[in-house]
Amino acid sequence: MTRYADIFASARTVLERNWREGRNDCDLEFGYTCPDAEKYPDQFFWDSCFHALAWSRLDPRRAMRELRSLVAAQQPSGLIGHTTFWHGPCRLARAFTYNILERTAFQTSTIQPPLLAYVWAEVADRAGDGRFADEGRIALTRYHEYLDRERADEDGLIGILQPDESGLDATPAYDAPLGWRSHPKVGFLALQRFNRRRHYDYRRVVADGGFHATDVLVNSAWVLGWEGLARLGHPGAARRAEQLTESLVKRLFDPVTGFFYAEGPDGERLNVSTWAGLAPLAIDHLPIHVCRRVIDEHLLNPERFWLSYPVPSTAATEPAFVPGNSRYLWIDRYWRGPTWLFSTWFILRGLLRLGREADAAHLVDRTASLVRDSGFREYFNPLTGEGMGARAFGTSTALVECAALADEALGEHRVVA
Ligand code: GLC
Repeated sequence: MTRYADIFASARTVLERNWREGRNDCDLEFGYTCPDAEKYPDQFFWDSCFHALAWSRLDPRRAMRELRSLVAAQQPSGLIGHTTFWHGPCRLARAFTYNILERTAFQTSTIQPPLLAYVWAEVADRAGDGRFADEGRIALTRYHEYLDRERADEDGLIGILQPDESGLDATPAYDAPLGWRSHPKVGFLALQRFNRRRHYDYRRVVADGGFHATDVLVNSAWVLGWEGLARLGHPGAARRAEQLTESLVKRLFDPVTGFFYAEGPDGERLNVSTWAGLAPLAIDHLPIHVCRRVIDEHLLNPERFWLSYPVPSTAATEPAFVPGNSRYLWIDRYWRGPTWLFSTWFILRGLLRLGREADAAHLVDRTASLVRDSGFREYFNPLTGEGMGARAFGTSTALVECAALADEALGEHRVVA
């Protein structure tokens, strides 16, 4: 018997309410969970990955439909973009700020953290469906080939051309190289214009001196993607995951501070501590000594990340840290302090792998208490627990997956946090 039965039940209500299905104008069938009916009615790439993980614990067939919809939206190049507009063109109000080539585009031309193959493998296992695994291997091999061809450096790590490609739109990690072009300052529109004119072609953007970066979260998801492809039966994928893990540590781990940082356009280390620096904990083969340093020196530090309601999106020691709503003019700036619940998944995996049972239980229980007090809000104040943003936020149901992982690993003998 799970101690999270109430969370499972309320998550199901949110997921059901946000479920959208049908056929689009091109007769493509879709079925997905929107993150929020008003604010985010479309299918978002990495949100869908977390929705599928939650669905896989409640109704694996829905998880399969959610992921199949992402693949149904795959472009001939192999790209599966950040956002897919199943119900017709992007809303006019958003058309200027979304990364689309034209108003009628069916999908954005940019990426989000490429977690999909990992999640596909999890769902295939839970559904016990070999045919689904085969489908995933074929489509996601094409997707990985696209990223390799269009985004990879010599060491295999991939680059981003806008901060929102990291999933963390206004993260302070990129404040220094972006300056007036950081989201949502007016220069952000200039950055988008620069990229749109180059058709969001990463190689052209780099060649023409545009902003680009090697992001920790995106590359952690990239490694996980290869781990997933290996589980789906792709020959050589396991070796790729190992090589990429080595590249990630070599290039983005700072042995002096024991933390992962993004690399900026000039190859410079961007020394801003955000939760992205904790995301490599999710990688199966991350060297244990690296895991230990990240956990002991950073994650569990009550001055930095181990706040009352972990894990804040930016370390509390950063000058940019804002635990509540951070606004520029009237526009929200995301990921500058509040706790988003799906980041818990990456971090919990590292704690469980290292056998840190009490800390893992504490993390899941504190996260569950946020939802018990305020519902599935979009993000929360890590000091007070106050809920903010969307009110029935599908992606926060990733807590279901975390609770299930905790139940599996800690069972009935768990330490009570
Ligand atoms: C915000 C987040 C992004 C997420 C989207 C939909 O833009 O920054 O990570 O995918 O909302 O939830």
